[in-house]
Parts: sequence; structure tokens; C-alpha cells
Amino acid sequence: MSENLKAIKVTDSVYWVGAIDWDIREHHGYYMSRGTTYNSYLILAEKITLIDTVKSEFLDEMLSRIKSVIDISEIDIVVANHAEMDHSGCLPDILKLADPSEVYASPICVGALKAHFDLPCEITPVKSGDEISLGNKKLAFMETKMLHWPDSMFSFLKEEGVLFSQDVFGMHYATAKMFVDEYPSDIVDYELGKYFANIMMPMSDLILRMLDSLQDFGWGIKVIASDHGPVWRNNINRPIELYKKWAEKHPCGKVLIVYATMWGSTETMAKYVSDGVVSAGVECEVINMTPSYRSEVAAALLNSDALLVGSSTLNCGVLPVMADILTYIRGLKPKNLIGFSFGSFGWNWKALSEANNYLNEIGVEVVSESVKSHYVPDQYVLDQCFTVGKEIGDQVKKGVGGSE
Ligand code: FEO
Repeated sequence: MSENLKAIKVTDSVYWVGAIDWDIREHHGYYMSRGTTYNSYLILAEKITLIDTVKSEFLDEMLSRIKSVIDISEIDIVVANHAEMDHSGCLPDILKLADPSEVYASPICVGALKAHFDLPCEITPVKSGDEISLGNKKLAFMETKMLHWPDSMFSFLKEEGVLFSQDVFGMHYATAKMFVDEYPSDIVDYELGKYFANIMMPMSDLILRMLDSLQDFGWGIKVIASDHGPVWRNNINRPIELYKKWAEKHPCGKVLIVYATMWGSTETMAKYVSDGVVSAGVECEVINMTPSYRSEVAAALLNSDALLVGSSTLNCGVLPVMADILTYIRGLKPKNLIGFSFGSFGWNWKALSEANNYLNEIGVEVVSESVKSHYVPDQYVLDQCFTVGKEIGDQVKKGVGGSE
């Protein structure tokens, strides 16, 4: 089935030889509603060079695409920008089949690859500022530690301005055409943001340092070829500007309510809180966790200034889906949020103290007492919900919740 798949030309000498995973939907909690691609690139320089490989089960697809432009034995150099298995899974097979004379990775990546695989050859470590010759072209390197693994690295093809950025600036978006500008910009921005929120957000400060380093390196970037989703060409400033904006976390003018409900009381409270926020003239997104994916909540949180959490009390704590999402958000280390908690209870309201503990651990500034309802909320409680929602909306409207 994979025999006739072709490489796609990216620049004069760079070809995409990756794989399209139309079917994947879930990976350690990341819900990929549009599938993904595993991107690998071939540079047809005097020394033919392969950047990254693909997930192991896509070896045949990658080989077919390579074969459409060269014989695999013609590959002279292999570069591994990132050791995670969606980009290194085929590395042992490729090294055996191609038998390249040179293989490069960052010093930490060398150790990570050796820990994962029984490799048939040695790998030469390269550091930030190093360059290698591809004969008639040069490839430069910049380590990007913890973006998002300690081994991660950028490679840059100087003559054509192509930045091979591994996961950075990528998105989970399975596409048959290879360029970002061939797809609707709202989908591209959403998937780029969702990827940032779920993979890069915990390292926002390192993202800002990386963007500074990119400037210091003075590379004239014309194309950004990441390891997931389509390639950025005419509009390379777009992902750079969005990464900067998200990492700095400026005010967004939006409130996010995340809740779970047992018999509908907490849901009713969420509606009144939302009505209060909207009455202040502020956008409000409401997510019922019971049928929702945590990766989509993270995407919504990226563009929010307030996180409002609702849960009924179950067994002296929050509902399990709320513990799940709050634990997940805690790991993402979102910046500059205000919030509060609300919910119904039968005989104790410990869900709310637990929710507040989570909010404190996440780093949310809790700006209101919790609103609680004994069983079904009466009008007094619903008015409280509306009032607190409006107060939060007023604060967000003034720019509280983000850093100017
Ligand atoms: Fe796409 Fe970190 O692997």
C-alpha cells in the first residue's frame, strides 16, 4: 500500500519524506481530532542528508517517499533532532539500510538514543553553534534543551534558510498538502495553539529564551519545517509571534469555566456564573468535563485570563474528572490567572476546599470565596453565582489576569 507514496518538494533541495497518520486520535491524553504527521526531511546536497525519521510502524511509507527521489544507500548523513519515538522510531532501520558515514545528534540526544535502541553505528554529538558541511551546503545547530525534551535541537540549512525545528512550531494536523498556507488559518492557529498549550506551555520561559537565541543566531529563516503538521513558508513570523504572545501570556479578555456535575446543580451554577461574566461584556467559554478532552481544555486555557472551577462533592472531594483535569492543568503551569470555585454538596463541601488547593497549586490567584449550594441552588445562591461571575468579568475587562 505504501509503495507509490512520493516525496514532496519543500525548497530547491529539501524534500519531505515523512508519514501521514490520519487515524491517530489519542496519545497520552492528547486528543488529536485531526490526526498528525511525522515529518522527516531529505536534503539533496552533495552529501545527502536526512533530518529525523518517523514512528516505527510508518517505516514503509517513509522508505517509499525516499525511494521516489533517491536510493536509500545514497544517504550520507543522518541528523536526529529529537529522540522521542515518533521521530526516532525508524532510526535503527534507516541506519542499517542507509549505512551513512556520519550521524549527528545533541550530546543529550546521543545518550537518549542509546538508551532506547541498539544502534548499528556511533553518533557524533553536536552543540549549539556547531556547523557541519554537506559539501555544497552547511547545516548549523542550536540546542533547545527541554523544548520539549532535554535532547531537543534545531538544525538550520543556511543556504536555503530552512529551520528544522522538531516539535517546536508543530501541530497535530494530518495534511496531504505540505504547506500551512494551503489550509484555513483559523484551523492552523487553533492546532498550533493546542500543541503549544499541551506540550510547550510548561516551558514558556524557555520558549522566550529560545526566541531570543534564534534572534542572536541571526539565521535568516525563510522556512520552518517542524516535525508535525504542515511547513511554514511565506508566513514564518506567524508562529514566532504567536509563541511569543502565548509564552508571555498577555491579557486575553476571556474567562474559562470548567465543571463537572452529578445531578445538574453545579451545572446550573456554572450557567449563572457564565451569565455574570458575560454581563460584564467579557467572553466566557464553559466546558462540562464529563464529555470533554483535557487537551482541548488546555487549548481553551491558553487564551483565558480566569479559570473558574465547579464540582459537586463526591466522597469528600472533587468529582474524578475534575481531579483529572486539575492535575493535568497543574502540570502545564499556566501563567497569570485569577479564579474561584463553586459547586453543590449534600453533607459536606470538601470538593471546594480541594478545588481551591488545586487552584493554589496551579498558581491561580483565588479572588473570591467559593460559592456553595446545599443540594439544589436556590435563588440566593444563583444570585451569588451571577454576582461573582460579574466581578470576575469586571476584573478581566480591566486587564487583570494577564501581564501587560
Ligand atoms: Fe513529536 Fe516530542 O515528539
